[in-house]
Amino acid sequence: MVFRQKHLLGIEHLHPQEITTLLDLADQYVDLNRRDVKHSEALRGLTQINMFFENSTRTQASFEIAGKRLGADVMNMAMQASSIKKGETLIDTAMTLNAMHPDLLVVRHPHSGAVDLLAQKVNCAVLNAGDGKHEHPTQALLDALTIRRAKGRLHRLNIAICGDISHSRVARSNLILLGKMENRVRLVGPATLMPSQIDQFGVEVYEDMAEGLKDVDVVMMLRLQRERMDGGFIPSEREYYHRYGLDADKLSHAKADAIVMHPGPMNRGVEIDGELADDINRSVIQEQVEMGVAVRMAAMDLLARNLRDSRSNAPVEV
Ligand code: NCD
Repeated sequence: MVFRQKHLLGIEHLHPQEITTLLDLADQYVDLNRRDVKHSEALRGLTQINMFFENSTRTQASFEIAGKRLGADVMNMAMQASSIKKGETLIDTAMTLNAMHPDLLVVRHPHSGAVDLLAQKVNCAVLNAGDGKHEHPTQALLDALTIRRAKGRLHRLNIAICGDISHSRVARSNLILLGKMENRVRLVGPATLMPSQIDQFGVEVYEDMAEGLKDVDVVMMLRLQRERMDGGFIPSEREYYHRYGLDADKLSHAKADAIVMHPGPMNRGVEIDGELADDINRSVIQEQVEMGVAVRMAAMDLLARNLRDSRSNAPVEV
């Protein structure tokens, strides 16, 4: 078993073997989560603080449930009501919390890099729950687990990530993870929603859905992230749906057994047809949510083991 990380800040820092270790453990947590009694003692005695500086439904709920099932004492900071509103900096808030001896800090922040910065200042394990347009590692890991369980493997698959790529930390983390595991990734979307240095990623780029989806095993749809757009990136939502919204017709270009994914929150009738999203024969959107809890349990369990190890090896202070 290999997992050497102190924090989970991005997929960028993970070795393929560490990804496999985490997914294997998450598979065990999927089984635990399907039982009547869902408790483990992996985080007993540890304190987990969730700090979400951006709105979140599923990610925050998922981290909270994950921590509680592993026996941690979980606290959700209401960042809206916190001292941040009174002008305290992110680092001051973090240092204040640090003085209360948390063991796991789960952070979502609108600025890319903010979570990395925070990790340098505190002495507990930090998990990035999404930082700006940068990374969202647990989302990519839960997507990977969903794909691995649906397809029986996580290599040599053709995967299309479609829509608003340029504003998406989900796309970025997935791109890195799927590349590390030796899959072929294609990006599909309008040129206005493609990141500028796209050539660096070694992926194929398509502007046309029919071409981009041809023979793929996995179709991953993304939300139009309007909160990150300053100006008009698309002519209209109707036009966007017509060209890029996933429906049965566009999906017919993919392999017959291709799966449909979406990280949520989903805008039905904008990037995806509502009926297709609910079609349990094609869509694995609900499985993604289920895998999210298991992956977060695995991530926190592994980080807590490393944290305990580092503390027990620490020289005794006199
Ligand atoms: C994503 C996010 O916040 O980056 N949502 C999520 O965590 N499930 C994607 C999005 O907001 O569209």
